[in-house]
Amino acid sequence: MYNEKVVDHFNNPRNVGELADADAVGETGSFKCGDTMTLYLKVKDGIIEDVSFQTYGCGAAIASSSMLTEMVKGKTLEQALKISNQDVADELGGLPPLKLHCSNLAADALHNAIADYRSKYEAGKTG
Ligand code: FES
Repeated sequence: MYNEKVVDHFNNPRNVGELADADAVGETGSFKCGDTMTLYLKVKDGIIEDVSFQTYGCGAAIASSSMLTEMVKGKTLEQALKISNQDVADELGGLPPLKLHCSNLAADALHNAIADYRSKYEAGKTG
């Protein structure tokens, strides 16, 4: 059902766990299945220095989360914001149609984490 890349990320997920000194946290959940994901970001000078995730979900959701963390590390917040659900699924080499919604968790959690970062550190900046 899943290709090798998806199975690899599911069996050996990268960057799992809570980031103790995270600058921002993004959470999301799927109404469809009840699965949830939390993404932690460490940001320095506008660049994502470190990232980790905790996902309570299916194999496709875990693989998507793992792949997303590899995609965003070292990127600027601007670049990371452009990563879409489809980009995550594409990077994984595709997901079965019924599992496409699972990749939504990863990109949505990322966008929420960036919004969290901006509300904490960029809001109210008047120079
Ligand atoms: Fe819930 Fe995949 S079935 S995220």
